[in-house]
Amino acid sequence: MIVNDYFSMKLLDEQLHFIDQTKLPIKEEYIRTDSYERIAVAIERLEIRGAPAIGVAAAYALALSTKNNFSENIFFTAYHRLISTRPTAVNLSWALNEIRNCFEQNRNSEKVYDLLIAKAVEINNSEFQACENIGENGLAIFMKKSKVLTHCNTGRLATAGEGTAFNVIKKGFNKNLVSFVYADETRPLFQGSRLTAFELEKNNIPYKVITDSTAAHLMKLGEIDLVITGADRIAANGDSANKIGTYNLAVLCSFHKIPFFIAAPFSTIDKKISSGNEIIIELRKSEELSMINRIELTSSKYEFLNYAFDVTPSELITGIITDEKIFSFPYNFNE
Ligand code: MRU
Repeated sequence: MIVNDYFSMKLLDEQLHFIDQTKLPIKEEYIRTDSYERIAVAIERLEIRGAPAIGVAAAYALALSTKNNFSENIFFTAYHRLISTRPTAVNLSWALNEIRNCFEQNRNSEKVYDLLIAKAVEINNSEFQACENIGENGLAIFMKKSKVLTHCNTGRLATAGEGTAFNVIKKGFNKNLVSFVYADETRPLFQGSRLTAFELEKNNIPYKVITDSTAAHLMKLGEIDLVITGADRIAANGDSANKIGTYNLAVLCSFHKIPFFIAAPFSTIDKKISSGNEIIIELRKSEELSMINRIELTSSKYEFLNYAFDVTPSELITGIITDEKIFSFPYNFNE
């Protein structure tokens, strides 16, 4: 029997407990720590990953930095260390700035640590609720019982709740609106074949993992009714950064006249930037392309280019499903 009892992270006994996503699905191993540095390393290594999960983990990490020997210097060192871990997902800076604002209002209070932890818990709870609302709002996209394609991982592992795109799929399946899921394996780190497959199994949703390059072929065969992915940062005009390969899917959907949806909490919208051109795209190490599990696939002396994200232009996005409502092109998130 499959037990659906895993969690991405929890605060217990003043420590953050988190599942090491790099070990999944081979091992379900939890790490516990109250060190902001250990959490920063976990975010860099992708032990904790997915935009909303990164934000919540960083909020806990910054709050925990005030636990022992509190000083302003330690707090701001932790803030700068955490904010530098990954550049693309806006949820990271958003959550850290929420904790920083709370700190600035309460820096002279004896209870600053308790107040910052309470703020981190509030962020966690609101991100949990956002996942619920995204899942409910997303039900409106299914015009019929659908076969869905998704990219990367957007489930419980990537968020503080049941997921963004994944929760739309899950709720759709539970309401008999989704019949089958195709999960892109998601090169080079296999968030699809390792993590999305793990979560689809745990939820008994029928699926097959495909290589990222299979999508066009399946669309031509009429096997895909719609595509839904998450996002790491959405500009004010709706341009959306997500895992590398998402833009390819949106272009393919446009050619095949298949709806392409993004699902993300409001905290992923960065109204300060007018378009996706301003989004910093993370470049990761060559070894992620030349090696798998420390085994060389090719010569590590060769030249590689490893962008972790791409930006899908807003005109290719049929709708952006948020916790508030579904927005459509031309995007205006103030309406
Ligand atoms: O590099 P990752 O694994 O952190 O990238 C994650 C993604 O691109 C997800 O699709 C995105 O964060 C949305 S998660 C709900």
